[in-house]
Order: sequence, then structure tokens, then C-alpha cells
Amino acid sequence: MKKIAFFDTKPYDKQSFDEVSKGFDFEITYFKARLNEHTVELTDGYDAVCAFVNDELNKPVLKHLKEHGIELIALRCAGYNNVDLSESYNNIHVVRVPSYSPYAVAEHAMALVSSLNRKTHRAFFRTRDGNFSIDGLMGFDLHGKTAGVIGTGKIGQCLISILKGYGMRVLANDHYPNKAYAEATGIEYTDLETLYRESDVISLHCPLTPETRYMINDEAIGKMKKGVLLINTGRGELIDTRAMIRGLKKGIIGGAGLDVYEEEAEYFFEDFSNSAIGDDILARLMTFPNVLITSHQGFFTREALRNIAETTLQNIDDFFEGRALQNEICYRCEKNCVKPGKIRCF
Ligand code: NAI
Repeated sequence: MKKIAFFDTKPYDKQSFDEVSKGFDFEITYFKARLNEHTVELTDGYDAVCAFVNDELNKPVLKHLKEHGIELIALRCAGYNNVDLSESYNNIHVVRVPSYSPYAVAEHAMALVSSLNRKTHRAFFRTRDGNFSIDGLMGFDLHGKTAGVIGTGKIGQCLISILKGYGMRVLANDHYPNKAYAEATGIEYTDLETLYRESDVISLHCPLTPETRYMINDEAIGKMKKGVLLINTGRGELIDTRAMIRGLKKGIIGGAGLDVYEEEAEYFFEDFSNSAIGDDILARLMTFPNVLITSHQGFFTREALRNIAETTLQNIDDFFEGRALQNEICYRCEKNCVKPGKIRCF
């Protein structure tokens, strides 16, 4: 029986994996700790590790895993920016869950747009306090406005369907524009300048790569339409947070809906309600009435958790049974594609 060490596990992970693992022959140990240089020794004696978005699979961690015979890292998430792929190349296989519910994340992105626009996050507290004034809560019709979607993969496309349902014009930007998709849906691929200039709502759905890190910086914000709603359910480091704060102070950014934050690893998924927030940037962000932060919960639906458990355990089983891997990361390919089997693009 293969032994799997799970990191950064919460009660809801254990619940969904315990349910699904009944169909597999694994011995799972759930560690609450995140995987990093200080905790990596916990993996000794295991056959595989299962990691999540804030586990740190950096050089020292990968070196330790390799030296202790771990052959497989099973990410129970889609993004893999937390894995040093240059280092893991040498014989550690990395599998992920490329898609567990793009609807979950897209629907959450739309919830952020709607709340920010109609200020329901503020109305909730007002009415609870017996304040039924609507002064300051005015929004705008989304119908007929322009949305800019950066990254038209699985999540971006789900969001586009929702935006079209609202009657919005959609501009899109992607490294690999999908012309057939654009024709079928009536969206327009544009360069980022046009997207920034014309969009009333901008939502980020591209992966975090060296190229996209801080793509939303002072220069990009300077090109945006005044009052734009900026939504990030992708990865925190797509946005230079300090630049976003400057944009909010100038009123260029009319609202920010953030499910991710560049320094989220220390705070997100944890309860700090009894302590001070030491991160002054995060604390500053939370002072804006037009900033709505959720702590990386875009994926958090029943359906997505079940899909994550099923795909992760299937990935692990495929690996140990010698079957072709469907979800192995092909990390030398610029497209960030995933090739079936152990053949990579290079
Ligand atoms: P996907 O791989 O289906 O789509 C990503 C798209 O971005 C692709 O079409 C790709 O060509 C495009 N792209 C790559 N580089 C680009 C660039 N420089 N500029 C513009 N477009 C570029 O990925 P999916 O499933 O849609 O997820 C997108 C991102 O959402 C993930 O990388 C992950 O970081 C994030 N995510 C967040 C979750 C949450 O709970 N908040 C959950 C799942 C994913």
C-alpha cells in the first residue's frame, strides 16, 4: 500500500479525500503543516506528497524529496507556480488537477463584480445596523458595458459566458487567442492597451509566470478607464499591490475584488481574528470600502472539492500503476501545456 503525505490539510480536505479514497488502496496521513524547508522531513518514509497552493516546493524541499525517494508530487490545485520546476525536472513527476470546476472560480469572480458594483458587502452591514439609507451605494448597469478578460482558458471562458449573459461586450487577451472560440461567442481579442483603455471591468485568468508577474503595475493602471472594477481570482502576484493601492487612491480603480493576494501565504486559509495583522499592505487594502477581499475561496464548492479528490487520487494511482499520466506538468513548454504520458514537449 502506497503511503501519501498530505500537507496544509483542513477538515474539509480530509472529509472529501476520506470519502473518495475508499475506492483506492492508499494510506494517507494528513498534516496540518504546510510543506516547506522546516517540515519536509515529515515526508521521510512516504511514497508521494500531496501539496496545495501555499506549500513551498522550492529547491531545498525538492532536493530533500528526491534524496528520500519521493517520486511524485501530486498538487491538489491547478496552478503550479509554487513548484520550482527547473529543479523538479530531474525525475520527480509533478501532477496537478488542471480543472476541477472552472464554474466555481468564474462564478466567484462574477460574485465579486456584482458585490463591488452594487455594494452589497456594505449594504449587508448597514441594514444589520438599522441603517436603511442607500446613499453611497449606487452602482452601474453591467448591461452594455465592456468587460476585459485576460486569459481565455477554462475559467476565463466560463466567466465570458456569464458576462455575455449580463449583456456585456467582452474584450479578451490571451497568449494564444482562440479565433474559433471568438467567432462562436462574439468576443473580440485585443491587445492589452485596448483592453485596459476600454474595459469597465477587468478580470485576470492567466497563470502566474515570470512574464505575467506584476502585469498589473503603475503603467498598466495608468492606461485603465477611470472607475474600472479590477478582479483577481488568478494569482496574487499578477498585481503589484502597491501600484493597485496608488490606483485606488487616485480613483482610477473604482473597486478591487481580490480572491488572491501576493503575500497571501501567511494569512489566507487561517484565522487571525484574535491577533493583529502584521502585513501593512494587506491592512491598508482592507481600509478601502471599495476593496473586497476573499481568502482564496474561488475553488471552494462541493463539486470542486469532490473533483479535486477524485482527480488527485486517480493521478497518484495512475503513477504507481504505471499508467499514462493525464495531468503531468509539461514544464518546459511555453504553452504550459500538459502532455499525456511521460513524454514531455522537449
Ligand atoms: P487555463 O490553463 O485553462 O487558462 C489559462 C489561459 O491563460 C490560457 O488560455 C493561456 O493561453 C493564457 N495565458 C497564458 N499566459 C498568458 C499571458 N501572458 N497573457 C494572457 N493570457 C495568458 O487555466 P484556468 O483553469 O482557466 O485557470 C487560470 C488561473 O486561475 C490558474 O493559473 C490559477 O492561477 C487560477 N486559479 C485560481 C483558483 C482560485 O481558487 N482562486 C482556482 C483555480 C485556478
